[in-house]
Parts: sequence; C-alpha cells; structure tokens
Amino acid sequence: MNNIDWGNLPFGYQKTLKNVRCYFKNGEWSQPELSESEHLNVHIAATGLHYGQQAFEGMKAYRGKDGDVRLFRWDENAKRLQKSAKGIYMQEVPSDLFIEAVKLAVKENIEFLPPYGTGASLYIRPLLFGSGAEVGVKPAKEYTFIVFVSPVGPYFKEGFNPVKIAVVRDSDRAAPLGTGAIKVGGNYAASLRGVMQAHDHGCGSPMYLDAKEKRYIDEIGAANFFGIKNNTYITPSSSSVLPSITNKSLQVLAKDLGLTVDVRPVDIAELDSFEEVGACGTAAIIAPIGEILDLDNDRKYNFCPEGKAGAWSTKLYNKLLGIQYGDEPDTHGWITVIG
Ligand code: PLP
Ligand code: COI
Repeated sequence: MNNIDWGNLPFGYQKTLKNVRCYFKNGEWSQPELSESEHLNVHIAATGLHYGQQAFEGMKAYRGKDGDVRLFRWDENAKRLQKSAKGIYMQEVPSDLFIEAVKLAVKENIEFLPPYGTGASLYIRPLLFGSGAEVGVKPAKEYTFIVFVSPVGPYFKEGFNPVKIAVVRDSDRAAPLGTGAIKVGGNYAASLRGVMQAHDHGCGSPMYLDAKEKRYIDEIGAANFFGIKNNTYITPSSSSVLPSITNKSLQVLAKDLGLTVDVRPVDIAELDSFEEVGACGTAAIIAPIGEILDLDNDRKYNFCPEGKAGAWSTKLYNKLLGIQYGDEPDTHGWITVIG
C-alpha cells in the first residue's frame, strides 16, 4: 500500500502502477495494452516530436461517500479529443476505445484514487500524438494514444481561496484562426512565457486577452474565465478559447440556481463592474479570483473583499463538486459510475 498524505497532495505527477497504450498502424487501432513503464520508445522522426502533432485531455475520477468511482461527462472529453485530432490532421480515437482505455487506467491504479472527503481526486491524462516518422511537414501515418493517471490536490495552491492573476499583453496563447479552441500542446508551449511572467509577479496564472485587439478577455492560463454581476453569469465567446466542459456545466448549474447566462465577448474595460470573477476547469475546478494585476499599467482590480469566494461562486462550486462526488443528485446525467 502507498503512504500518501491525501489531504496535502499538490497538483503534480506521481508514479502509479500502470498506464495504458493503444497504437494506430496499418489503418487500425490496437486493443489497449497495460504497461508498468513510465517511458515510451518513440521514433526519432515522430511528427509529435517535430511538428507538434499532439493533443491531450484532462479528466478526473472521484470517489464518493458510497465508495463508487465516478467520471464526469467523459463523452465530452472523448469528443473534444476527436475535435483536436481533426484540427491538426491526426487519427481520431473512437469514443469506445477512449472510455475503455480510461476505465482500464483507473481500475489498474485504484489504490491511488483518493478517499472521499480528502478534497483530492485522480487526475486522468489521455494523450494522442503522431508517432509515425516523417521529415516533410505532413500528418503521420501512425499514432499512439496513451492514458496515465496521477492522484492530485488543488491546481492553485490557494485551493478554493482567492487567487491572484496577471494580465499579460506581450505574448499570445493562441491566434484567432489558430488552435486555441482545441487542446493541443503547442498552445501550452505558447502560454509558458505568460505563465512565467505571472509567477514573477507573484500571481498564479496569466490572463490572456484576444490576440487581435488585446481588448477582450480570452482565458486564465489553463482555465476559462467567468464573471458574475446583476444575477448574470458571463463568460467570453471567442474563437481562441478552449471550450471548457466545466464552464459548459457551470452555465447549466447557474441557470438551475436562477442566474441568467450570457456568453459574449467580455471587454477588459468591464472588469471593474463584476461582483465576482473566477477561473474554471477540470484542474482548477472554480478558483475565485481575488486580485487582477494589469502588468502594463500597474493597475489592480480587487474582488473578494472579505478574503473569500463570493456567494454565487461558492454555490456553483458546491453544486459542481456535489455532483462529481455523488453528494448531489445527478439531474443532468453527467456521471458514469465505473466501479
Ligand atoms: N482552458 C484551457 C486552456 C485548458 O487547458 C483547460 C483545461 O482543460 C480549460 C480551459 C478547462 O477545460 P475543462 O473544463 O474541459 O477541463
Ligand atoms: C485541465 O484542467 O484538465 C487541464 O488540462 C489543465 C492543465 C493542467 C493543462
């Protein structure tokens, strides 16, 4: 048995027992195989290494009070990986293969699934990349799909406490007609300058504005942005924002709670008017934003005057986690019990 301090887990990689691998060769996918190795044997000319032909997903498995193991909207992750694959001309992973590999990875590492009540979960990382050799810039003929898992705690060290965010303007995560709306590794490489700049200023994540006008809010690092005012949940529509499954779910829950939902471009000039703002995603869950520092003009926006998340963000957070851990009824059919 492992000796894990479940309540104090960081969001990071931890070695588990096994991972799952599937290979696309000669026009078909192989059955999922288990491996105990943490390493891959990759061709030196693989397109995934040279030309960024690569996409990934981020999901979690949650252990309920009843002991059941739950996945949240896994079909949305499968669909998004297919969309990412299509976007950069990779072979798609069929949904039935996707879920088979995910279930296998969770079951084979079940002792790493954090107990109920610890605030931790089992992060699941499906990854697809071009593993066939090419030297010219073209799609590979062979692909590898792997799934590994790692027990994780909160993405932001603050947990569900207000985080600090820095507006960065001298780098772009994604172009309007680029790959921002799919989950490919290149977007994250492009985000690293902003991430490091934010860290240098004592902030947890960068806020990206739209690349064209630097006027509209795009995303908060690896999470979507939302703001709440006048009983309305407002979140950006933009061709360079990753469509977050968490955000999509929060919009439904916001309506359930009686809020109006407005998906539209959000001008940074509007920031001042929000009563609550936050970042949301699988890893981030909801991270309430307490301070936004605009690096270009030294301007500070402050939220969370009492030093804690606002009332609507708290309600949404409790509702979402309640469903994910099985404490709240799954009225929208989002949960799959896998063991
Ligand atoms: N935005 C970006 C850039 C992300 O990497 C993620 C994480 O997947 C999200 C938003 C949140 O998406 P989801 O809620 O589907 O995890
Ligand atoms: C997620 O929220 O699952 C992410 O993928 C965020 C990140 C660690 C890239």
